[in-house]
Amino acid sequence: MKILIIGSGGREHALGWKINQSEKVNHLFFAPGNAGTEELGTNIPVGVSDFEGIKKAVLANTIDIVLVGPEIPLVEGIRDFFLADKELKGTPVIGPDKAGAMLEGSKDFAKEFMAKYNIPTARYQTFSAGETNKAAEFMKTLKPPYVLKADGLAAGKGVLIIDNFDEALAELAEMLDGKFGEASHKVVIEEFLSGVELSVFVMTDGKNYKILPEAKDYKRIGEGDTGLNTGGMGAITPVPFANAEFMKKIEDRVVIPTVEGLQKEGIDYKGFIFIGLIKVDGEPQVIEYNVRMGDPETEAVMLRIKSDFVDLLEGVAYNTLNEKTIEFDERTAVTVMLVSGGYPGDYKKGIEIKGSNQVDSSIVFHAGTTTKNNKVVTNGGRVISVSSYGSSMTDALKTSYTNAEKINFEGKYFRKDLGFDL
Ligand code: AMP
Ligand code: GLY
Repeated sequence: MKILIIGSGGREHALGWKINQSEKVNHLFFAPGNAGTEELGTNIPVGVSDFEGIKKAVLANTIDIVLVGPEIPLVEGIRDFFLADKELKGTPVIGPDKAGAMLEGSKDFAKEFMAKYNIPTARYQTFSAGETNKAAEFMKTLKPPYVLKADGLAAGKGVLIIDNFDEALAELAEMLDGKFGEASHKVVIEEFLSGVELSVFVMTDGKNYKILPEAKDYKRIGEGDTGLNTGGMGAITPVPFANAEFMKKIEDRVVIPTVEGLQKEGIDYKGFIFIGLIKVDGEPQVIEYNVRMGDPETEAVMLRIKSDFVDLLEGVAYNTLNEKTIEFDERTAVTVMLVSGGYPGDYKKGIEIKGSNQVDSSIVFHAGTTTKNNKVVTNGGRVISVSSYGSSMTDALKTSYTNAEKINFEGKYFRKDLGFDL
């Protein structure tokens, strides 16, 4: 079988690494991929939103399954594009259609969906231009800080948490005025929830589902969870506080109503649902849905799936997920992200990366890398992630940190305190 993975990050490299272990796969393709994925298969220089280019690649290489990594092509309707095309409609796409992708593409849609299906989440209201007075009334019913969310995709920057009432209101006005472009023409304001966060991943064929290993992600650039938000600086799985009892609550109160709710909405959802949760007084509350796997969570979660991942993907593609089993590796897995100096602000690209071949007992996943004159160079803020197994979190982290020291590029930075809160 030939599989095409859309995307170019650590998530896509990790998915490819896992898929490549399956005997069912003869050849892997990536569009566009990175310097790491090039070693697993063939990189095709086509962007994730270039549906015509992807079509050419699928037909030319007789691809059997397309796995979509990032949210953008899903929100833009890559699945709908395949279904509407005579030559492509027989090729399964792992990822929801445009309607399903609204769970991530519109915070307002996601909140309304949760309210309708009684899925626990923060109290909220949505506002449009000209409604700042109404918003002020709602905000008076909330305790600070105030959580403001741009409705649409804003590259992870669309959530603002502000302590001061007047500042929050001024910020709301700016957002409605186009601070995040089209994405903030509607703004969700919600109650602030205090607790520890958890990422839960579900695979579904629209009816049946499997829950993947859960993970804890570290989003802030600085140690002790300080400083600016990033795409994610590392991840750990399993998560000690996510015991069987808590996971059961998540399954009953969130996963089942979500999968059933999508069916009731007439959405034939095939792909991943990433549920961002927060544990408040022992209870799960949903912070957000994403319609894809997490990055960097995937770079740890893939290490903990023992089953043939392609078999599971086939279950999603052909509505037979109920016939499949998913087995977990009992060990701990972690990933530590090495980032460019200056990230998440401005940073340089094109810096040579050395020492990856010195890594021992860890798995290296490339994120923002490319090859230039036969050298591997940096090509993004998040550059390389170093994933390891361990008998404990401390043990796995130690292996990743030791190997992270061996990989060198000018300006390299990584957090050395992952798991501090667990
Ligand atoms: P989101 O893009 O919705 O995941 O939000 C980004 C981050 O903002 C989350 O990972 C949380 O840390 C934080 N956040 C979002 N919503 C809330 C909330 N209602 N209460 C507290 N923190 C939140
Ligand atoms: N790690 C968070 C995300 O992928 O959105």
